[in-house]
Amino acid sequence: MWTVLDPGAPGPSLSRPTVRGAQRLPTPSTHARWFPKTPAKSVVALKTPIKVDLVAGKTYRWCVCGRSKKQPFCDGSHFFQHTGLSPLKFKAQKTGTVVLCTCKATQRPPYCDGTHRSEQVQKAEVGSPL
Ligand code: FES
Repeated sequence: MWTVLDPGAPGPSLSRPTVRGAQRLPTPSTHARWFPKTPAKSVVALKTPIKVDLVAGKTYRWCVCGRSKKQPFCDGSHFFQHTGLSPLKFKAQKTGTVVLCTCKATQRPPYCDGTHRSEQVQKAEVGSPL
């Protein structure tokens, strides 16, 4: 059986309750929350580089944010932690072993350039920005 709803009848409210006279605080839009204008800083994932075997022609995503649990590669943590950062995509030029940065301070990403040996990196806490 069909029930005719009275459009004027009180129903459940879908909006947030407000106190009369109270100012409503601005709510950041969903887009602004997921894609912040100012990206977060990268954090030190580890203080030593990782040797990995790459396959020529294959594309890899190197973790830029330092929050990935699959270092040195991206596991999507940059997105789920709303960092505003993106992984670095690169294609291996040849098959072989390379040394990839995990301190996120290299000047030659994704490759280690020895910056992890600096006092600044060695004194930093793992998981904190430089
Ligand atoms: S691990 Fe980052 S420069 Fe070596």
